[in-house]
Amino acid sequence: MHAYDEELAQQVIDHLRHRLRLDPPPLGRLGDAGELSVALKGAIGTGPRPVAEVLRTYTEDLEPTVVSCDHPGFLAFIPGAPTKAAALFDMVLSASSLHGVSWLEASGAVAAENQVLRLLADLAGLPAGAGGCFVSGGSAGNLSALVVARDTARRTRGLDDRAPVRIAVSDQVHSSVGNTLRIIGVEPLVVPTDDHRLTGAALRTALDAAERDGGAPVVAVVATAGTTNAGIIDDLDGIADQTRARGLWLHVDAAYGGAALFVPELRDRLRGIEHADSLVMDPHKWMFAPFDCGALLYRAPHLARAVHTQDASYLDAIHGADGDTPGEWNPSDYAYHLTRRPRGLPLWFSLAVHGTDAYRDAIARGAGIARWTADRVRGTEGLELLREPELTVVLVRRTGWRPEDYYAWSKRLLASGTAFVTPSVWEGETVARLAFLHPDITEETVERILNSMVDDGS
Ligand SMILES: Cc1ncc(COP(=O)(O)O)c(C=O)c1O
Repeated sequence: MHAYDEELAQQVIDHLRHRLRLDPPPLGRLGDAGELSVALKGAIGTGPRPVAEVLRTYTEDLEPTVVSCDHPGFLAFIPGAPTKAAALFDMVLSASSLHGVSWLEASGAVAAENQVLRLLADLAGLPAGAGGCFVSGGSAGNLSALVVARDTARRTRGLDDRAPVRIAVSDQVHSSVGNTLRIIGVEPLVVPTDDHRLTGAALRTALDAAERDGGAPVVAVVATAGTTNAGIIDDLDGIADQTRARGLWLHVDAAYGGAALFVPELRDRLRGIEHADSLVMDPHKWMFAPFDCGALLYRAPHLARAVHTQDASYLDAIHGADGDTPGEWNPSDYAYHLTRRPRGLPLWFSLAVHGTDAYRDAIARGAGIARWTADRVRGTEGLELLREPELTVVLVRRTGWRPEDYYAWSKRLLASGTAFVTPSVWEGETVARLAFLHPDITEETVERILNSMVDDGS
């Protein structure tokens, strides 16, 4: 099984070449559980099967039922749109079995990942000492960062290891933060938002009240730079004023919106992000890296190391008898993981090949088409724009539609191969949500989507 097989390699590489050349790739469709179970019956037996036959099961039965996140018309959830350079280099990672745990095993890969983290830290305005690692995504980043926030606060306040503490979050915070707090046993202090945005003023009121309510101390605040549902950026500057004045940890979840830092016209909206003690930005979202790639940065990485470094005799070789050697970096020390692929490398490769100007332009395109779409919605009878897009999400109401109309329309749109747009809920009402990222989305496609909302009637 471990010997190089030219025919196997050729067939798989031919498939990859074919997939990468598709422009656009097929949008895909929903699979039928019964059909998939039939297709997979006997796929894994006790003996070998011809490669071509197994590949055929994948290409004919499985692949068509996977909606292509990298189709320009994939406008649901938060899409992915990896550059070809990044996608190809991801294969290098796998084919070379690159292991990104420690400097000892993978110094070159870790150095390149750190070059990308430095670039992101500079864009955010974090100090020279900032650093971290790449994790699987925003959820893993939020979890890892908030454990550091919790444990650092307990230590610096002289609390015991299990002392109750609270973390302030807005009522719009990403669901992964809610999950994190449950997992790490921290009670949320939920701060109401003003027009869906957490402001410094609302935070001040909530923190003042929390000081009087006799509950556990609030030790950290989570701000969001780009809410998932609507792309709204919290008042980072005002929030940072509060966290700095009160000595609280500021975590900024910029998993989606952080990419806007590449674009000078958008960067100002994230003012205050430079005060983050920890920061998450997901390159697998609006920075065109393949899944799964989240960047996690700390202002003072030694605090994360103190929390996350795993202690086991077989790992002593990684950390060295002489402690820290300047410049050496073990990504496993900065999140809850141990084994990890150096998933920042595909982004490093693509950034190096294309340059940051190309990233700036491609990121700006997502925001540009969102603004164009908003204008179009405003000018279309029967459609209502629910708010001005701050980043790349456009929320649209179709006058007279009930929730089931949105879902039926979404299904028809996917079946027609035009686009994948899923409904969401805005202020209690089901609406259409278009999340742009792919720079190749065209105005014609958007026009077709909007027309389909009007033409499909109510
Ligand atoms: C603001 C925000 N935070 C966190 C996440 C979770 O990221 P992931 O899905 O990469 O775990 C998302 C995902 O969309 C997000 O938009």
